[in-house]
Parts: sequence; C-alpha cells; structure tokens
Amino acid sequence: MRLDKAVSSARGVSRSAARSLILGGQVCVDGIQVRDASCQVGAQSVIGLGADLIPGVEPAHQYLVYHKMLGEVCSREDAHHPLVFRHFNDNMRHPLMTVGRLDQDTTGLLLLTTDGRWSHRVRRPGHHHKCYEVTLSESCLDSVQDQVLAGVKLEDEHRPVQVQRIERMASNQFRLWIDEGRYHVVRRLWAALGYHVVGLHRSSLGPLHLDIELGQWRPLTQAEVDLF
Ligand code: URA
Repeated sequence: MRLDKAVSSARGVSRSAARSLILGGQVCVDGIQVRDASCQVGAQSVIGLGADLIPGVEPAHQYLVYHKMLGEVCSREDAHHPLVFRHFNDNMRHPLMTVGRLDQDTTGLLLLTTDGRWSHRVRRPGHHHKCYEVTLSESCLDSVQDQVLAGVKLEDEHRPVQVQRIERMASNQFRLWIDEGRYHVVRRLWAALGYHVVGLHRSSLGPLHLDIELGQWRPLTQAEVDLF
C-alpha cells in the first residue's frame, strides 16, 4: 500500500492532507524520514507520525474488475435474479461493493471494491467517461448522432443528458461515451428519441478497458488502482 494511503486511513484524513504531512517531513517509515508519498508500506512497516506510531497498516482493500453477465443484478439481495456478488468471497469487516451499477440487461465492465473512498473517486462526475456499445431494435437515420450530441432531455428531468462522443458501428449499433451515473441513463436517452435498446455493453470506464472474458474477474494492479 502507498504511504499516503496508509497515513490517510490510519488518521482519517484525506489523501492530500496525508501527502502534506509526508512532504512536511512528519512521517517516518522504520525510523527513517520519508518524503515520498508513493513509498510502499506493508503490515510489517513501522510508521511514525510526529511523536506517534501508527500501529500496523489496515488489511489491504480489494479492487476488482468483473465482466458482468446478462441477467445478473448488482443489488445485495434479490430473490429472483443471480447476484454479481455470488462470484466473490465476502469479508464482513470490509464488505465488497460495486462501484456504481449496471442494470440486469447490461453486460460489461463492472468495478468492485471494499474501499469506499476509492469508489467515490471513481464515480466523481466530470472525471471518467464510460464507453457503452448500444444495439437498437431498428436502424436509424444519420441525423440521430447530431441529436444525441446536442443533449437529450429526459421526461420529467430538467438537466439534459450530455454525450461526449458517439460513433456508428452498424445501422442500428453505436458506441457512445458518457460521464453520467443516472439510473438507466443510456436506455432512457434512446427511449426519449423514440428507439428501443435491445443490447447494452460497457466496454471501458475511464482508462480501464475490458480485457477479460464474460463471467471472469481479476484484481486490479496497484498501477490501475492508482489511475483513479
Ligand atoms: N445506462 C443504462 O441504461 N444501463 C446501464 O446499465 C448503464 C447505463
């Protein structure tokens, strides 16, 4: 784990406050002053903050990427549908949670973590575009791309949906990039234009691209975790 993260979770301060403490020369690792916030520390490291010792480092959090299957739901409980959580062993002290949600009929890239602060960072608006591959029940005119880029007003909602980029893949298939967390936003956007989505797949989230088979998962590397 990075030193700034260890200090931030042990002291309940933000990462930037932890970095200031480190840069200010207030943190020692194994008796040596360290001013590099990215220095790696483990459960055996003795971290000193001013005159205090930070006892042990919290057990490492989990950061996973999963290729969600059709029909699975991201809820904690559902008597009628399989849960995405059935693939993972849960640790009750640090429960695994999904980072945002994909709906039951959507496949693709889903992140899961035990680290609430990280989840919050990933979901911050304006930071990480998600790419969705959309299949419509019928083909549509070229002008639909301009309509989408102009912003689409959803029924009963004030703020239009803003799509950053859209590419046509086939007469009824598009790839679009969006930075939105609203409920069923992609399906509702197309419904507002008179089209029905019959297939929806998330292929990337920010800098992460799906690189595993349907139903598979893998831990993120530390470098991937640090991208957010
Ligand atoms: N938009 C949707 O409509 N569904 C999803 O699962 C994600 C975005």
